[in-house]
Amino acid sequence: MCGIIGIASNKSVSMNIINSLKKLEYRGYDSAGLATLTNESINEKKCSGRVEELEKILFKTPSEGNIGIGHVRWATHGVPNVINAHPHSSEQVSVVHNGIIENSDEIKKELEAKGIKFKSQTDTEVVTLLITEALKINKPLESVFETLKKLKGSFALGIIFKNFSNIIIGARRGSPLAVGYSKEENYIGSDSYALKSMTNKISYLDDGELCVLTKDEVNFYNKNLKKINKKILIMSEDEYSIDKGEYKHFMFKEIMEQPETVKNCIDEYVDSLKNNINILNFPIDPQKINKIVLIGCGTAYNSCITAKYWLEELTSIDVEIDIASEFRYRKLKFNSNNLYIFVSQSGETADTAAALDICKKNNVKTCSIVNVIESTIARNSDWVLPIHAGTEIGVASTKAFLGQLTVLYILCLKLAFVRQDINEKTYIKNISNLKKLPDAIKKCLAGENNVQLMAKEFITAKGSMFLGRGSSFPIALEGALKLKELSYLHAEGYPAGEMKHGPLALIEEGLPVIVIAPKDKYFEKTISNMQEVIARGGKILFITDNKKESLNENIRFGLRVPHIDNLLSPILLTLPLQMLAYHVALIKNCDVDKPRNLAKSVTVE
Ligand code: F6R
Repeated sequence: MCGIIGIASNKSVSMNIINSLKKLEYRGYDSAGLATLTNESINEKKCSGRVEELEKILFKTPSEGNIGIGHVRWATHGVPNVINAHPHSSEQVSVVHNGIIENSDEIKKELEAKGIKFKSQTDTEVVTLLITEALKINKPLESVFETLKKLKGSFALGIIFKNFSNIIIGARRGSPLAVGYSKEENYIGSDSYALKSMTNKISYLDDGELCVLTKDEVNFYNKNLKKINKKILIMSEDEYSIDKGEYKHFMFKEIMEQPETVKNCIDEYVDSLKNNINILNFPIDPQKINKIVLIGCGTAYNSCITAKYWLEELTSIDVEIDIASEFRYRKLKFNSNNLYIFVSQSGETADTAAALDICKKNNVKTCSIVNVIESTIARNSDWVLPIHAGTEIGVASTKAFLGQLTVLYILCLKLAFVRQDINEKTYIKNISNLKKLPDAIKKCLAGENNVQLMAKEFITAKGSMFLGRGSSFPIALEGALKLKELSYLHAEGYPAGEMKHGPLALIEEGLPVIVIAPKDKYFEKTISNMQEVIARGGKILFITDNKKESLNENIRFGLRVPHIDNLLSPILLTLPLQMLAYHVALIKNCDVDKPRNLAKSVTVE
């Protein structure tokens, strides 16, 4: 959450800061700000709301200066107003910050006891004021170093100094920080995408490291302030090819890209000629895996639940799933024959990264299924299986979810085969079904007009329920999550069989109930549960891959997706639900790519 940028240059930096902040807005969009150094004084401009507002301010009163830092905020401490917007500056120093200073209250009390005054409600201001104090007796780098020793929590910082007008200092503990290089210009940024239009030469700070930028050079230091060298990575054009193209929203573009992204993913892992899956180098001998523990948050957690059904169906391995923010605080029994799999689009989610750290401390083998391969989670795990979905900008995850499911399914198949839980014939049949997936996804997406009609059923709805059984249950959860985050409409995902144990009380005349019922072993049971809802006045929106099921008058709206195979139906059934959430959000005039109160990369606990 929150995006930071810093530029040291031989020319004015404010417009490039604005352009980078626009790219970082997916990380937070409550408020925005920048600070530049002009005539040896710190010149701050801030606003609540979007970067667009900040740009308007700059058009009226431009900010000069060849050194500057910028920020987009996802509020944690203090309401999203101008005062709490970053940067936070004193007479001497200006700071942008991503993450949380956990002991800020304690430090604030100590500083206030010395008579130091605070302007904002943020945790960041303690960093500004600690550095300001330290500068009375130290140089900038030592002042930052001394300040870091006092801070608890996870963060990335960008700092400029009134009296040292040629440097920016960057520091990382937990939250990501990239460094970019160019001719007579150097940069820090929360990700390489923010630096895209300025450079393709990138390094990443590791935990505890600092950097000092001037326009001509970058020096790196480790956590003991010893100078170190960093590798420079050259980012390819592909890693950067991100724009909305013909689409109005990133989310819709990302939904429509899914046949391609899933195909890329399959091509990466499946050897079509040999009908084999190229997953090698398991960190534990697959025969010896005792249990698989899958961990993630939000949509990524819904992928974990789906994979549990697949692993149980295809393999003899015991499976456990956990939400990262629960896993990390539980009293767990670790076993070196267990494989711990972390699923994350960004690879930066604080809870998932912390859960991974706990596993590492307990010397167990870890695997990450990520989209961003240079991310913290990918770098810290023993084994990485990328999903190859390309950058996902829409805050609500769509193509990354399908990518996660695809990789998890491929992994399950490979494990089942190498452990001889399935025979070669079944293995090859499942691979051949998998290869049909991109075309089937295309067919699902072609049904968009029908989904648009279905979305109209939500115009007056006060809430909704999504029901499924078996592997359709996590898809019900995902459908409900997408609808609530995009359209701010209450939505509950439930196992259909669980309705009678309480939630049935919520059903009233006209409540939209989305029933996800593929033709699998649960079909008849799901239909019975649907009847119970119909009997109480619920308005049924029915989604199936069953060609035979005739849609009767009790079903308000029916949608059919193609059928390839029961194991793969959760992937196909997801598509109408993504489009449904998108169209309901459009009807309700919601900001599809940047839903309120959310951010793409959740780097706070
Ligand atoms: C929902 C959504 C979130 C993320 C969750 C985990 O659409 O995007 O629920 O799935 O914040 O994020 P990652 O996958 O980056 O760890």
